[in-house]
This record gives sequence, structure tokens and C-alpha cells, in this order.
Amino acid sequence: MLTKIIVFLGGVGFISAVIPDYIKVCKSNEKDLAQCIINSVYALRPQLKKGIPELDVPPMEPLFLDEIKLRSGPNAAKLDANITNIKVWGPSEFQILEVKPNLAKKRFAFRATIPHIRFEGDYDIDMHILVLKYKGVGPISGNFTDYTFDCVMKGHLVKIDGKDYLKFDRMHLKLNIGKSSIRLENLFKEDPVIAKATDDVISDNTEVFMKEIQPTLERALAEKFTDIANKLTLKFTYQELFP
Ligand SMILES: *[C@@H]1O[C@H](CO)[C@@H](O)[C@H](O)[C@H]1NC(C)=O
Ligand SMILES: *[C@@H]1O[C@H](CO)[C@@H](O)[C@H](O)[C@H]1NC(C)=O
Repeated sequence: MLTKIIVFLGGVGFISAVIPDYIKVCKSNEKDLAQCIINSVYALRPQLKKGIPELDVPPMEPLFLDEIKLRSGPNAAKLDANITNIKVWGPSEFQILEVKPNLAKKRFAFRATIPHIRFEGDYDIDMHILVLKYKGVGPISGNFTDYTFDCVMKGHLVKIDGKDYLKFDRMHLKLNIGKSSIRLENLFKEDPVIAKATDDVISDNTEVFMKEIQPTLERALAEKFTDIANKLTLKFTYQELFP
């Protein structure tokens, strides 16, 4: 519908799309394209944080993730868990450490760090870690600090109504785990001794737990971020974004 209106307006001589002032475009022959992209992303961050309704971009704080399903694991930790209603705070506080743009290949590699991430959700778990077995449901929450991630976004031009738009394939995202702490509530709450033992086992095995969660979390975040990037790049022509 929007495209049709734009085409119609374009037909009668109006400018088809106006780049909002919170999007700082980078010239394709920019001397320091990497720095320009970093500045541009930072300038956009406040909007990303609260969402950009006119561009259909949802708020990044909190970030809602789809269900995370975990299956089995190494011998020391058998795990079957479903985590739902996941809300994540902190991802918009990313600091970009490095960008390697390759406009010719429409490929952007970057490395960033997120100082503090907090999440909440609901779990339904059936696990067997070391000597303890447990099964239960309840709220799960946790904190991750000093995470870095490496991302590669590869895009290609798609033609829409005769104009070129940049569309990204699902990004590759690799998390480098920093410190994490996870809390599962309601497990064995009727038995304080077992509850304490369970808490300790989870605290002592957060790393094991995180290793299990990591690939699923990477996929979930990659999907979210790719979706956000495409919501932006598919609203403006490639020529408008990289004049
Ligand atoms: C997780 O969900 C699947 C169905 O999607 C179900 O088969 C499985 O039993 C659930 N796991 C737990 C621990 O509830
Ligand atoms: C996460 O950090 C908040 C404060 O920043 C704290 O209240 C909460 O207990 C922490 N949760 C875990 C599981 O460490």
C-alpha cells in the first residue's frame, strides 16, 4: 500500500521518500566509511531504543525474544528446557569496537560489546546436572556482563518497483560470553534444603547452562537484529542510503 502511494506520488513528481534526520547517510566514497557507519549507528541508537513506529521498527528495550528450546547436552548436563516470554534489557547499550564495511560486496563485519544484559522469562525445565535431577516451572532471570559479539551482515540488492534496495540475509552472530549469573525460581521451593542445593548447582554450572543456550540465543538475536536492519534498509533505496 505504502509502495503504491509512493509510486503514485513519484509519478506526479514528488520526492518518493525523505530520509528522516535521525538517519545519517554515508557517502559511498566516504574517506572513513567505517567511522561514518559507527557515527550513523550511534545517532540512530536513541530511536532504536524506543522504536520507530513510522518505519515499523519495534523498541529494542526491552527486546522480546521468541521461545528458546534447549535439548540434551553434554554428559554432565542433560537438559530439556523451554524458555518463553523472554524480555531482554540492555542490548541497545552496545559499543561498537570495529566495523569493516565492504560496500562492493554489501558485506559489513563488526564487533561490539554490550556492558550489561538482563533478562527475564518463564522456564519449563527437565534437567539432570551432575547428581541432581530436577523438573519444574517458574520464572528465570539472569545477568550477563561484558559480552562481546562478532557479526557479519551480508546483503544483496533487490529490485522493488525498478529501484534497488539493500536486503540482508540472516546475519552471522557469534557471542563471546563474559560473566553470567542465572536464577531459576520456584524449583523445589517446598524444600529449602534441596532448593539451596539446586541454586548452588545452577550457580556453579551457569557456564554449562550458557553453553547450551548460546547457539539458540545467537540465532534468536541474529534474527531480531537482521529484521531490524531490513526494516530500515528496505524503506529507503540503496542510492539514498549510500549516495
Ligand atoms: C518443551 O516443549 C516441547 C514441545 O514444543 C515439549 O515436547 C517438551 O516436553 C517441553 N519441555 C519441557 C521441559 O517442558
Ligand atoms: C541481576 O542484576 C540485578 C541488578 O542489576 C539484581 O537485582 C539481580 O538479582 C541480578 N540477578 C541475578 C540472577 O544475578
